[in-house]
Amino acid sequence: MSPDIDEARHPFLKGLSKHRGAPPTVVVIFGASGDLTARKLVPAIFNLGVDNLLPGEFHLIGFGRKPIADEDFRVMMDEAIAEHSRRPLNKEIWERVRQNMSYHSGGYDEAAAFDSLAEKINQIEKDLGRDMQRMFYVSTPPSVFEPIIENLGSSGMAQAHVHTKLASKVVIEKPFGRDLESARELNKVINGVFEEPQVYRIDHYLGKETVQDLLVQRFSNSIFEPLWNREYIDCVQITVAESLGVGSRGGYYDTSGALRDMIQNHTMQLVALTAMEPPVSLDPESIRDEKVKVIKAIQPLKLDVDGGDVVRARYTNGLVKGEPVKGYAEEQGIPEDSSTETYAAMRLAINNWRWQGVPFYIRSGKRMARRASEIAIQFKRPPGILFSEGDKFNVAANTMVISIQPDEGVTIVMNSKIPGLETRTQPVKMHFRYSTTFGSNTPEAYERLILDAMVGDSTLFIRGDETEASWKLVTPVLEDWEQCGVHGLKEYTAGSWGPLESERLLWERGHQWR
Ligand code: NDP
Ligand code: BG6
Repeated sequence: MSPDIDEARHPFLKGLSKHRGAPPTVVVIFGASGDLTARKLVPAIFNLGVDNLLPGEFHLIGFGRKPIADEDFRVMMDEAIAEHSRRPLNKEIWERVRQNMSYHSGGYDEAAAFDSLAEKINQIEKDLGRDMQRMFYVSTPPSVFEPIIENLGSSGMAQAHVHTKLASKVVIEKPFGRDLESARELNKVINGVFEEPQVYRIDHYLGKETVQDLLVQRFSNSIFEPLWNREYIDCVQITVAESLGVGSRGGYYDTSGALRDMIQNHTMQLVALTAMEPPVSLDPESIRDEKVKVIKAIQPLKLDVDGGDVVRARYTNGLVKGEPVKGYAEEQGIPEDSSTETYAAMRLAINNWRWQGVPFYIRSGKRMARRASEIAIQFKRPPGILFSEGDKFNVAANTMVISIQPDEGVTIVMNSKIPGLETRTQPVKMHFRYSTTFGSNTPEAYERLILDAMVGDSTLFIRGDETEASWKLVTPVLEDWEQCGVHGLKEYTAGSWGPLESERLLWERGHQWR
């Protein structure tokens, strides 16, 4: 069988890649009746079709426990696109993806269901007269990650095609374990079936345009890199704030909390990209090597309710954007004895040549004043010789704020002379806004990630040792919190910027949150 695309037979899908071509592919989504498939995955696939980026031969199989007829699944996905796609439904394009969609029912731990899935894929290949790459997207709750992987192994679907070498790969959703031990165990199961280059662990923050731009900002501009170190930087503040509460996800969230849900993965990725050394090249392993190195250089956190490096809290009722909202304890599905945090902040010390002595403050929470993810680099003040009045030094520290979302862009705060006959200074802002420069309809994170996984580019996915390094840092904190229960769990009013106690992390080093 030839892996080449038969352009004559598939005019719409011919040469579907503008830049990089994915081979003929069958995508199987496990958990396809779920929320993520409808809200993100299938709309992303549709938008890749609109951009002419799907491979020449493309099949999508949904897999789940409930029996769903093929046509019913297609209708569910029609509705998903109508509701969640960033671009309106283009019937002609969607129809061409849709006609190659089907549903396969079975248990995630049922070997026979995987054997019949393998037969279905073989039949698709037979009908097309060629091998297909197989991409298994695991989008179920984590309790069934392991049986799915094991069944992919025992059914023979994890292996590459013998002659054409077309790959088999697995994409795994978060959460990747609950602590260091379970992450190691999951890595062991996965690596028992798949080779590491076949594994794509998702962190959707890496698919965001602004997160990818961090590397470009840092390593394609000669004005920033010489300053990016302990000589010039006073502190780094990373905020990932949401105004939303836990909504209907209380059941899941209460078993997770802010540290597992946001800090161990998304926020830690922002730390790694901000602090890593320049990679020797842009190939995936060079970038991931540097990220792992810097995560490993973060010092163990000091755990002490009143004076340590971490603060946790949960929201009480309050006003968000002028609307009254419930406290976490009253949300649907939260047990009475819950001690889960909806906010976590940490002071990190990175013990390497570049960063020694520069605190990295990170925080993430739900029901905060507004949605804002940003990285603020605060530079050291210039010498206080000029521009002072009496003993008061009048010049503010320079800051570079990289806004990940919303209102994506970069702002540099610098000092300027206030026009007039006296010499007085004022901080002023220089803005770069993505929407003004590039327009606002940029690809969703999942579009980039699904395309990269199909093409075989793992740069924006988490390597096994990377996830373990991050769990190694946060697991002692989780264990400590578990032991303490509600003791040490602070409170903050919904709609605020978090608990007062998190200010302490900064005050102790002469800083304050921006
Ligand atoms: P859902 O809770 O919607 O579950 C997905 C599907 O898995 C369900 O439709 C169901 O399919 C099956 N399922 C549900 N519960 C169980 C269970 N206890 N045992 C076995 N199968 C079950 O999940 P989401 O779609 O929201 O999320 C999927 C994955 O993506 C999760 O790992 C989640 O953490 C991750 N994720 C989700 C995000 C989101 O916004 N939704 C964001 C980031 C990550 P069936 O009954 O047909 O088998
Ligand atoms: C998910 C978390 O990984 O990220 C959610 O499970 C959170 O709790 C979401 O709301 C935030 O993603 P984004 O892209 O909206 O910042």
